[in-house]
Amino acid sequence: MIALLLVAPCLFLGVSYAQFTYPAQLYSPLIQQKILKVAQSEPNPAQYPQYTDRVEGIWQYFAPDTWTTGFFPATLYELNTRAQLCGLRNQPDWVTMARQWSAAEVPLEQNSTVGHDVGFLSFPFVHELAIDPSNQSAIEAVNQFATALAARFNPVVGCTRSWDTADPTDFEVIIDNMMNLEVLFVSESLTNNHTLRDIAISHANKTMENHVRPDGSSFHVVEYNATTGDVIWRGTAQGYANNSTWTRGQAWGVYGFANMFNHTGDMNYLETSRRMATYFLNNLPENGITPWDFDAPLVPPRPADSSAAAIVATGLLLLSRQEASLKPSNTTGADLWASAALKILSDTTNLAWQPAWQSLLANGTVNNHYPSANNLTGIVYGDYYYIKAGNDLVTMGLSSC
Ligand SMILES: *[C@@H]1O[C@H](CO)[C@@H](O)[C@H](O)[C@H]1NC(C)=O
Ligand SMILES: *[C@@H]1O[C@H](CO)[C@@H](O)[C@H](O)[C@H]1NC(C)=O
Ligand SMILES: *[C@@H]1O[C@H](CO)[C@@H](O)[C@H](O)[C@H]1NC(C)=O
Ligand SMILES: *[C@@H]1O[C@H](CO)[C@@H](O)[C@H](O)[C@H]1NC(C)=O
Ligand SMILES: *[C@@H]1O[C@H](CO)[C@@H](O)[C@H](O)[C@H]1NC(C)=O
Ligand SMILES: *[C@@H]1O[C@H](CO)[C@@H](O)[C@H](O)[C@H]1NC(C)=O
Ligand SMILES: *[C@@H]1O[C@H](CO)[C@@H](O)[C@H](O)[C@H]1NC(C)=O
Ligand SMILES: *[C@@H]1O[C@H](CO)[C@@H](O)[C@H](O)[C@H]1NC(C)=O
Ligand SMILES: *[C@@H]1O[C@H](CO)[C@@H](O)[C@H](O)[C@H]1NC(C)=O
Ligand SMILES: *[C@@H]1O[C@H](CO)[C@@H](O)[C@H](O)[C@H]1NC(C)=O
Ligand SMILES: *[C@@H]1O[C@H](CO)[C@@H](O)[C@H](O)[C@H]1NC(C)=O
Repeated sequence: MIALLLVAPCLFLGVSYAQFTYPAQLYSPLIQQKILKVAQSEPNPAQYPQYTDRVEGIWQYFAPDTWTTGFFPATLYELNTRAQLCGLRNQPDWVTMARQWSAAEVPLEQNSTVGHDVGFLSFPFVHELAIDPSNQSAIEAVNQFATALAARFNPVVGCTRSWDTADPTDFEVIIDNMMNLEVLFVSESLTNNHTLRDIAISHANKTMENHVRPDGSSFHVVEYNATTGDVIWRGTAQGYANNSTWTRGQAWGVYGFANMFNHTGDMNYLETSRRMATYFLNNLPENGITPWDFDAPLVPPRPADSSAAAIVATGLLLLSRQEASLKPSNTTGADLWASAALKILSDTTNLAWQPAWQSLLANGTVNNHYPSANNLTGIVYGDYYYIKAGNDLVTMGLSSC
């Protein structure tokens, strides 16, 4: 396979991204083989892979009412997309398997404990609508999850609540929530209910104002007073320190603000995504390995987070498409972010591609807090975004399966 991409040489942030290859593993048939094996052994009652153990790379399964449940069925839809994009023959019926794997999510439409993460649960149904826009149960699912997220909106704070708290005046919002706004836009497109869009815009504005620092880095958590709307605390739940930048959160931000620009055309969102992307790239170490937190100590060596790398790569590709969509098209910007995405995908593949494991990638960090530190794992959303990045590159004409 020829895996060579030429990008116009450009000087970017002191790094010359002249020429990048995409990693051939991104299109390895091992991807389909591994995922088919998991798909064909669905537990009964349903449980979903979230992360692997750290020695043999065996998936650990969780009950449906878990924030990560949607990623495996969404991965099956991505493989259907790939089969079409790449003209693959003799493929399993990915769509039928994706639908089967979505079924256990239906009760969660009425009753889940995932809070704002209903946005992630909606992913398989959003994929389903791309295949069959008239599928009523998928429409119902998207609308129910959007209603559940909208019900978490507090107009005084201007945000949707992330976690439930014992004290209802304590209102916590995490940067991850930027990813969950998409379900509001999809539901708006189905129902014509513009309140959903207004909620997404308000939430994004507040996040831009209070989570993102002037240098483009981000806090993981901002705590508001639900009665007054005041910011009462900024810190972390999953990062190294209260004032640090947790890479996965930063990656969600790059993606989430590029997505907000796509839906609104508001340049402030594009600028925010650019600033967050610039911070991410400027703070990667020489070896290009995405650490789990940009401020974690270097000794002992910081565990990597291949999931943050896969998410930011996909986010950078989305950002690249936004630059390309400007009138006139910003081809310099588009090339810059696409090149950076390719470099991160190459460095991450070199580090973390693990043929012997059930997951595609190793070197994920779920969290790294004593005593429950969970590093050196495969992660279901890392694999999902790795495959999506491969698909997006094909769609963008930057790779050829
Ligand atoms: C519609 O989507 C749902 C949810 O993904 C799936 O279970 C069902 O099989 C689909 N129905 C049809 C007729 O394709
Ligand atoms: C909601 O789900 C929980 C388990 O996650 C269950 O205990 C409870 O009975 C359910 N409530 C309703 C109204 O279905
Ligand atoms: C629009 O969505 C909001 C939030 O879910 C809801 O409160 C409102 O009733 C919906 N409006 C209509 C006309 O359905
Ligand atoms: C929020 O503000 C109200 C009114 O000042 C106060 O009663 C409440 O304790 C505050 N809550 C938190 C979590 O700070
Ligand atoms: C969000 O911010 C934009 C400017 O970026 C502003 O035009 C808009 O009114 C704001 N909307 C809300 C609901 O805060
Ligand atoms: C963040 O600050 C809170 C108190 O505000 C503290 O309990 C917590 O341990 C700190 N977290 C970290 C990771 O340092
Ligand atoms: C976080 O706070 C510590 C202690 O005040 C300080 O040494 C460190 O430089 C700060 N880090 C960041 C990223 O602001
Ligand atoms: C990556 O994962 C492998 C296998 O788990 C491990 O041996 C290696 O130390 C990890 N490297 C980093 C930088 O995390
Ligand atoms: C922007 O969002 C629309 C849906 O509103 C989608 O069809 C389109 O592919 C997105 N464009 C980009 C560049 O991501
Ligand atoms: C093109 O994109 C780059 C990177 O985001 C940005 O620095 C530059 O200002 C953009 N140029 C235009 C004309 O929008
Ligand atoms: C990785 O996780 C283990 C616990 O599973 C923990 O003991 C170790 O300190 C973590 N590694 C680093 C470098 O933080």
